[in-house]
Amino acid sequence: MSSIDWRLPRWIAHRGAGKLAPENTLAAFRLGAQHGYRAFECDVKLSADGVPFLLHDDTLERTSNGHGDAGALDWARLSLLDAGGWHGRTHAGEPLPTLAGIAAFCLRNGHALNIEIKPSPGRERETGEEVAREAARLWQGQATPPLLLSSFKPDALEGAQAAAEALPRALLLDSLWEGWFERAQALDCVGIVADHRLYDAALVERIHAAGWRALAYTVNDPPRAAELLAFGLDGLITDAVDRFAP
Ligand code: G3P
Ligand code: MG
Repeated sequence: MSSIDWRLPRWIAHRGAGKLAPENTLAAFRLGAQHGYRAFECDVKLSADGVPFLLHDDTLERTSNGHGDAGALDWARLSLLDAGGWHGRTHAGEPLPTLAGIAAFCLRNGHALNIEIKPSPGRERETGEEVAREAARLWQGQATPPLLLSSFKPDALEGAQAAAEALPRALLLDSLWEGWFERAQALDCVGIVADHRLYDAALVERIHAAGWRALAYTVNDPPRAAELLAFGLDGLITDAVDRFAP
């Protein structure tokens, strides 16, 4: 178990507040904050020239006016894209944010951040290293940074562990694959972030017995949220920032 006293608020806005505003943009963070959210999750990958920036998909089409593999473009090109117009005209012209830009917003406002390391295929280790290095630089000087690095990719978390061991890590699970528990132990994780459908009371108990926090994504249904909290979940990641008051 990590010796870090890691804590995030219980309610975490998913992709900023990425259903009501364009996901993984500053506009989404601002909207989540307006709804009282003090913790955010976002997806971070690398541009071709190594700049950590926010985007969920490998490709640009769904959430911007760009095309093709996002990790194949330099930041100078990515920074010109419109990442808001797809969502609605109110957000047209909203740029893709860098991790540094989002850090400025979070630090200035005292918000906690769960950085999901979302590597372009084949760049798992490199992305983990670079994102952790950049996060350590941006949040330096804070004894217990309100930060959590998570990933579905153990190789990315291994990179993060090598580059900035002190930053808290969590393994993301979309299934309980063979060996997940041992892998999380080896990665010296402080938490598990699992698909909420995987949880029952026994799984929460197993995670807690290991000394870890148990978080769930993406919880948008009030009865299910109540059930998860009754199991003892420590954190819920939600799109429904207008439905759940943190
Ligand atoms: O980090 C939790 C959640 O964001 C994982 O799924 O696909 O929304 O990034 P996804
Ligand atoms: Mg995510």
